[in-house]
Amino acid sequence: MVNSKRIAILGAGNIGAALIGGILKTGVADREHLIATVRTAERAEELAAKYSITVTAGGNREAAQASELIILAVKPSTLPWVLEEIRDALRDDQILISLAAAVPIALIEKLIDRRMPIFRAMPNIPVVVEEGATAVASNAACTAVQRQLVENIFRAVGVVTFVEEDMMHAVTALSGSGPAYVYMVIEALIAGGLKMGLSREVSTRLSEQTVLGAAKLVRETMLHPAILKDQVITPGGVTISAIHELEKHGLRSMLISAIETATHHSQNLTRSLMAKFGKEG
Ligand SMILES: NC(=O)c1ccc[n+]([C@@H]2O[C@H](COP(=O)([O-])OP(=O)(O)OC[C@H]3O[C@@H](n4cnc5c(N)ncnc54)[C@H](OP(=O)(O)O)[C@@H]3O)[C@@H](O)[C@H]2O)c1
Repeated sequence: MVNSKRIAILGAGNIGAALIGGILKTGVADREHLIATVRTAERAEELAAKYSITVTAGGNREAAQASELIILAVKPSTLPWVLEEIRDALRDDQILISLAAAVPIALIEKLIDRRMPIFRAMPNIPVVVEEGATAVASNAACTAVQRQLVENIFRAVGVVTFVEEDMMHAVTALSGSGPAYVYMVIEALIAGGLKMGLSREVSTRLSEQTVLGAAKLVRETMLHPAILKDQVITPGGVTISAIHELEKHGLRSMLISAIETATHHSQNLTRSLMAKFGKEG
């Protein structure tokens, strides 16, 4: 299903490039309807060669002007300057989608000095392998049709869910940063296998597949993980002895606290951004 809207991806780094790949693969837009910008000429050449689309170094204003849907995929610290650059090129018939962590829609509205449909999305890094988890919030100017379009874009690179904007801090702490926690778990599982004498290769393959398979089982059975965990336990067996050890060290409590701390950190980042860029006048 090729969309007739022109899409600009401003800042095609890790996440932006993954979106280009997903959009082209699923036909949300074709090559002629997709344009991207980056900072350096080298990166522009690399992406243009890989995806056969127009990619420019800079040129955010021109890309925004030529598009109906503008995805802001630059880093949060760069976003105010990019918004400043494109502000006068924006029109009411366009849609903005910001991926910038901790940047609230209200601040974007203030920086562009207009009300228009704005979505704020929090993807995560597995979008690169089309297994991302993206949460999306929107302002009151967004319509159901626009919402569907935005859902199609992020569904091209994984699963999508809509949330109220005040939940974005928790989303950032859970799924935005979450891959890092899971990498630590995989790293530790590999180390455990190594310690017990498994080869590096065997330990790595078994660890990654265990995490992948366990997650797939949660999704496909729709059973609570506690039930699935119980199914692995044999009375007096190996698994319960390991679980006892994990409980002694507070594995679950540690992860809950990590998400709580990260949520508060995200809230503080937003407060700092609002203090710096959101002042009246
Ligand atoms: N990575 C994550 O796990 C993650 C998760 C959730 C949300 N996010 C959000 O997604 C956004 C992108 O993150 P990322 O990890 O993809 O960052 P990234 O890989 O650093 O990509 C940023 C891109 O912006 C380009 N850029 C810098 N200044 C520019 C300018 N003035 N005009 C146009 N392009 C410019 C850079 O170009 P060059 O390559 O030429 O330097 C780079 O390609 C961020 O706002 C982040 O908060 C990221």
